[in-house]
Amino acid sequence: MSTLYSSCIRALILLTVLSDIDGYFLHFQRECRYTSKDLHDIEFIERRIFNKLEYGRYNSSLNEFIGYTEFGVYNAERLNADPAALASMLSNRDGYCKSNAEKYYPNMLDKTVEPSVEIVSSHPATSKHPAMLVCSAYDFYPQGIKVTWLRDGEEVTSDVTSTEELADGDWYYQIHSYLEYTPKSGETISCKVEHSSVPQGKVVNWDSSMPEAERNKVIIGASALVLGLIITIAGVVYYKKKSTGRILVPSS
Ligand SMILES: *[C@@H]1O[C@H](CO)[C@@H](O)[C@H](O)[C@H]1NC(C)=O
Repeated sequence: MSTLYSSCIRALILLTVLSDIDGYFLHFQRECRYTSKDLHDIEFIERRIFNKLEYGRYNSSLNEFIGYTEFGVYNAERLNADPAALASMLSNRDGYCKSNAEKYYPNMLDKTVEPSVEIVSSHPATSKHPAMLVCSAYDFYPQGIKVTWLRDGEEVTSDVTSTEELADGDWYYQIHSYLEYTPKSGETISCKVEHSSVPQGKVVNWDSSMPEAERNKVIIGASALVLGLIITIAGVVYYKKKSTGRILVPSS
């Protein structure tokens, strides 16, 4: 949650004036900046930018225009001397920023989506290498997740590596945590995920029985073997019968 509130929310309104295809570009960029839900620190900024250069800015925390170029300074002094201009800019802080920000919390910022969590075996143990399990949490929102491994309920701290929280590009995130371990029979390995969408945490146990795809391969292989045996036996029996028959004919 905290990462969410500390992230800076910007609302942009681009007032653009484009004089020609390869001409000049003037734009005003409005930002509402806040880090706390009670909005006590909300700040309204209007940047005035000409050909990518910000020449002046209004900052509601100062209730002042600031100039960054000769033209910007000239404008800032002129506007700062005009109480009506300042009052009208300041009114955006409450009238525009606050009223919008209040709507973003219930509709966007407070929304959470629970991840789907699964454990897969990346490679089984061999005499040389320990086994590796991957715990993946998919499609969660927002960012800010904790993935831990448990062996018989005890948190594992060594031999654990993890990816960053990866953005899917569609507002969702995913993360993968890797556990290297030497299997012990009878133990329970679980992956615990803590996220704002599941306050009580979500625990998934590793099912070390064969995954379905593997099981299917074994079943298909075994069936083929049995079928092959039946055909072979039938062939041998048929051959024996025929050859005995042929041998019998001349001897009779
Ligand atoms: C606006 O002014 C306040 C007070 O000086 C400052 O802390 C803040 O960083 C300024 N914001 C921007 C975007 O310049």
